[in-house]
Amino acid sequence: MTKAIELNKDIDEARQGEATVIATNKKTVGRKLYVESYGCAMNFADSEVVASILTEKGYATTADVDEADIILINTCSIRENAESRVRKRLTNFKNRKKRQPNLVVGILGCMAERLKTSLLEEEKLVDLVVGPDAYRDLPGLIEEVEGGQKAVNVLLSREETYADITPVRLDKKGISSFVSITRGCDNMCSFCVVPFTRGRERSRDPQTIYNECKELLASGYKEVTLLGQNVDSYRWNMTSKGEIKDSSKPTTNFAQLMEMVAGISPELRIRFSTSHPKDMTDEVLEVIAKHDNICNYIHLPVQSGNSDVLKRMNRGYTREWYIDRVNAIRRIIPDCAITTDIITGFCDETDAEHEDTMSLMREMKWDFAYMYKYSERPKTLAERKFEDNVPDEVKGARLTEVIDLQQKNSLEINQRQIGNINKVLIEGTSKKSEDFLSGRDDHNTKVVFPKGNFGKGDYVMVKIKDCTTATLLGEVVEILESTN
Ligand code: 5AD
Ligand code: SF4
Repeated sequence: MTKAIELNKDIDEARQGEATVIATNKKTVGRKLYVESYGCAMNFADSEVVASILTEKGYATTADVDEADIILINTCSIRENAESRVRKRLTNFKNRKKRQPNLVVGILGCMAERLKTSLLEEEKLVDLVVGPDAYRDLPGLIEEVEGGQKAVNVLLSREETYADITPVRLDKKGISSFVSITRGCDNMCSFCVVPFTRGRERSRDPQTIYNECKELLASGYKEVTLLGQNVDSYRWNMTSKGEIKDSSKPTTNFAQLMEMVAGISPELRIRFSTSHPKDMTDEVLEVIAKHDNICNYIHLPVQSGNSDVLKRMNRGYTREWYIDRVNAIRRIIPDCAITTDIITGFCDETDAEHEDTMSLMREMKWDFAYMYKYSERPKTLAERKFEDNVPDEVKGARLTEVIDLQQKNSLEINQRQIGNINKVLIEGTSKKSEDFLSGRDDHNTKVVFPKGNFGKGDYVMVKIKDCTTATLLGEVVEILESTN
């Protein structure tokens, strides 16, 4: 019997991934499961762990929410609007329960952890609440719900990395996959809810990461993205102070982990996210420069261009430090795309402080930026310490300025690519036209070109002829490898 899990993309929040469907061949115990994911790449990766845990137990899975007996929503709490969208979705399901009383609705991920039992007991929107470190418990918890009880596990763990679980791949393209290398975050940026919802930072055994990447390549994948809230703080067998935990065993830092994974095969492209300006070392940059198969692409969130705002944000670096790190990237990896995250209207942000973000944008010329209005999150340091006192219109006006400037910068950067020949990994047919294919180059920029005698999973050299702010358009001049 063929079953499928659908992974829905929350367009606004999702950084990567597409609505995807997978067919599995496990024995079913009959109840049909549907999983929907919102938020960051880590949630998409976690849904694959959840799918693995439940298909192992024989749950039947479906891509059609209408035929589901069990609906699991993997949620995001990073901004208020991310949560509102999930609430709306849950309200729809609550109405459906009137027609289908046996329907089980569960909430996973950050909202589960943040709101704990309130969605279950007070708002009565769900039957099941499972936090990001408790997915191994899902089969038992679902059974409890099916037996007529409500079930909750929101315990955070200092150890859980799901290292031994081989995720069920939900990316229907079968070309690119996420691989988690750390969980949680110890940084406590004052605006951020993640340390509260995902707990303490812990790194996954490097050998299991290596094995997972190797297996992905063997099953046809061509690209892996190593994921962590702060990949630069990856460390195995080391304390946060750099002391060795067990002297009889080797230690591994992020640079060494990348070196290991890059060595699997020149055919496997390596990406990673997210880098942190305070922790990104020259050693990591040198490993990127040394390996052709590690993409010249670094996502390095700045958040603000003003050092006082950065201090209030508890980011652990100044504007000058950030510039120094970008200079190091430019020096060690001359042709490297750098993208960033920017928040407008953080607590007490003045016009002059906002202007510093604008001037840094002009100076850094990031290839791309994810830009947000500040959204106060309960329990965070900022919520406790500062007033959310920048009026919404001002936040919005500053955001518009930031977006307009970024669009201008992105277009300028893309225009400079015209005439270049870029190596592209083909991901599939272009969304806009059946006659075109689309893929990504080394800089993670989308490249679209006419169909030819090549397809998904092939590496091709594309001559860039034109561009928009977000896409390069070109023609294939050479096929490097064909899997067809
Ligand atoms: N409000 C707005 N944006 C936020 N981010 C994190 N927390 C908030 C918040 N409370 C943004 C940051 C981070 C990205 C993942 O989301 O820019 O880098
Ligand atoms: Fe949040 Fe900062 Fe950790 Fe990123 S590094 S997850 S912004 S606390």
